Amino acid sequence: MGAYPEHYKLREEVSKILHHYLQNNYTIILDIGCGSGETTKYILKTINNAKIIAVDNDERMIGRLKNIFAKEIANGQLVPVCQDIFEYLKNIETSHFDAITSSWTIHNFKNYDRTNLLKEIFRTLKPKGIFVNMDKYVLDDPTKEKESFDKAVNNLKLLSNKNISKRAIEHEEEDRHPAIIMKEKESGLEMKNLGFKDITFHTRIGREIVMSCFK
Ligand SMILES: C[S@@+](CC[C@H](N)C(=O)[O-])C[C@H]1O[C@@H](n2cnc3c(N)ncnc32)[C@H](O)[C@@H]1O
Repeated sequence: MGAYPEHYKLREEVSKILHHYLQNNYTIILDIGCGSGETTKYILKTINNAKIIAVDNDERMIGRLKNIFAKEIANGQLVPVCQDIFEYLKNIETSHFDAITSSWTIHNFKNYDRTNLLKEIFRTLKPKGIFVNMDKYVLDDPTKEKESFDKAVNNLKLLSNKNISKRAIEHEEEDRHPAIIMKEKESGLEMKNLGFKDITFHTRIGREIVMSCFK
């Protein structure tokens, strides 16, 4: 929250887009890289009639999620899964989910893995299913990308916790590595080539943006 104080607005937007599309029909939603449920909580608040499968491969994160959402887990609204997302999806049939969402996770994957994950997302979505991703899609123009990187780093330098500040700046740098960097137009084109339709980039805050598309 200290490093990215406004990003809750993007998380809220993810849940609004999902709700707008899914309405109140019963749905199965997959949340990839749920962490401790920072975005999941907005989805739970907005969408009542759904089963949300929240997958993360970090035991500590799933542990926190289990504590925070004990009630929703008990009533079957939320199903936590501690597993690598590729391992999890291997056992999922084609056309299974009404919606797949992810936030701030997919940009961490190497390009090759990201492509494979997008293919799996496409495969496991039902026809007309929606994929909503809140993530670091940087601007394709190198000058604008550099400007937004410098701005992000300058904001992170102002954090009072110097350890968090240092780690967050290092992470911003890691995300720019050519084998990892995720660019808005380039990613949109890749998703189109994989078969996704109506690829839309919504609100941008800094280097992050909300994207939605359909199978
Ligand atoms: C930056 S956090 C984002 C958490 C949360 N979605 C949010 O909006 O704050 C990225 C999460 O992805 C998870 N993750 C990374 N690689 C993964 C993988 N291969 N399978 C499942 N989860 C993964 C990490 O453990 C981490 O909790």
